[in-house]
Amino acid sequence: MAQTYARIIGTGSALPERVLSNADLEKFVDTSDEWIRTRTGIRQRHIAAEGQTTGDLALQAAQRALEAAGVKASELDMIVLGTTTPDIIFPSTACLVQNRLGANGCAAFDVNAACSGFVYALGVANSFIRSGQSKKVLVIGAETLTRMIDWNERETCVLFGDGAGAVVLEASSEPGIYATCLHADGGYKELLWNPVGVSAGFRDEPNHGVRIKMAGREVFKVAVKTLDSLVEQTLQAGGMEASQLDWLIPHQANLRIIEATAKRLNMSMEQVIVTVDQHANTSSGSVPLALDYAVRSGKVQRGQNLLLEAFGGGFTWASALLRY
Ligand code: UT7
Repeated sequence: MAQTYARIIGTGSALPERVLSNADLEKFVDTSDEWIRTRTGIRQRHIAAEGQTTGDLALQAAQRALEAAGVKASELDMIVLGTTTPDIIFPSTACLVQNRLGANGCAAFDVNAACSGFVYALGVANSFIRSGQSKKVLVIGAETLTRMIDWNERETCVLFGDGAGAVVLEASSEPGIYATCLHADGGYKELLWNPVGVSAGFRDEPNHGVRIKMAGREVFKVAVKTLDSLVEQTLQAGGMEASQLDWLIPHQANLRIIEATAKRLNMSMEQVIVTVDQHANTSSGSVPLALDYAVRSGKVQRGQNLLLEAFGGGFTWASALLRY
């Protein structure tokens, strides 16, 4: 029997209107444009308006992806949404988006793998399509991470932004996703986390607000090392050499981490999609935002080989090797 692949047939993304530049940040945080640019590559980030939720951004990205794919919401078998900043505790943001799209009845659920959320969601969707259980799946990565930022903490507040991206996957006899690799190591939980929650208890006293805590330097080191072995493993799983890759579409946390991964793959920065300068770190939103930018700007063309990868809190790390 012929192999069934999951193919990306449409992409979309959404960003809040408000842009906060490094210069804007300088006005109320003890930081500098120079520090932020040289340490991270970030120049600006988009910030969700008051009342604008992860689901609002996810919906817009999804509508654009469906339109690009020429697929009606009612045709979807499943919606998988990567997020660590859901609108509410439950129902899942995927269910909220499903209802707003008018896709009621199909499976819909969130995946929380922090910054690896979209690539994890893509891995799950790929498995459902490959096994024949689903034909058309909407995969979304969406976040309003700035909702859990302490604007007094310069170590973290300069790094994050809000945004969403989405793809529509379809079962096809043509490749398609060749391989996905998903990993986690909860032993690193305290290096990057937001230790506030339902069962552990909500705490809103000054030192325990709902905010991200990160040991930046340690995260940086593990990320570079882990992504090095992840990209090797992914190429092997997909039966491909690095020289066959057309594009690297990495998680957009830090330009120096992205450059290290490109170097490992012997790829020039011309073959790497970089949006961290414009969007900062949008967690689950980052890879699909970069992918949609790459597709709509005409950089990524049909038939090209793409390597997607992400690393985030947990730690989690994940990748996908695919022909676009
Ligand atoms: O998406 C999930 C994965 N997350 C990541 O991949 C993030 C990984 N980590 C990083 O990207 C980097 O570690 C950071 C960008 C967070 C930090 O860069 P760094 O080169 O590792 O800097 P550092 O933390 O070692 O700090 C260097 C100095 C410190 O001052 P001293 O101790 O050298 O005097 C900090 O206090 O920079 C200072 N600093 C700042 N200065 C100006 C820290 N934040 C800022 C700031 N503005 N915003």
